[in-house]
Amino acid sequence: MRPIRKYDAARTRDFLKGLAPRAISEVPSLVMRNLRKISLVLLALIFVTAGCRIDMHMQPYYRPLAKTDFFADGRSARNPVDGTVARGDLREDSYLYSGKIGGNPGDYMPFPVNAEVMNRGQDRFNVYCTPCHGRVGDGNGFIPSRGLKRPPVVSH
Ligand code: HEC
Repeated sequence: MRPIRKYDAARTRDFLKGLAPRAISEVPSLVMRNLRKISLVLLALIFVTAGCRIDMHMQPYYRPLAKTDFFADGRSARNPVDGTVARGDLREDSYLYSGKIGGNPGDYMPFPVNAEVMNRGQDRFNVYCTPCHGRVGDGNGFIPSRGLKRPPVVSH
């Protein structure tokens, strides 16, 4: 058997001529036929994607508290608008958050106590406090049973 040689267009043509054909025509591959279109699309793709990458990766921005000569005070960070309150930090009802009225402890609840409030309180107590204080506040939670300090009976 003869070894397989690399495709050689001229040799193949000669071989085919030897078979006395009516005509010989070359059929270029799909890629070769559309080479111009394909390279145009590829070129466009390179431009489009390269453009996106640079836009997204090189945005003008300041690192927090970096200095700048853009503002007169040399700081890139601006102060919040006067009166701005961080979300959840308004705390208008000072009695609710401090338990004090003019520096003295208050003696009433800062909101009406109803069944809903009591149930919510019991629910939270059961989640966070019972491991030490026990379900009924007698100080017999499972943590003291493992050797930690036993809390006093909650008498409040
Ligand atoms: C990690 C265990 C532990 C957890 C959890 C815990 N406590 Fe305590 N608590 C103690 C200990 C111990 C004492 C006693 C402290 C002391 O004597 O110095 C105490 C004391 C108290 C007292 C004072 C009791 C008195 O009569 O002097 C109250 C009130 C109290 N805890 C309420 C709570 C509430 C409400 C929670 C849940 C939000 C809670 N505790 C969660 C261990 C705990």
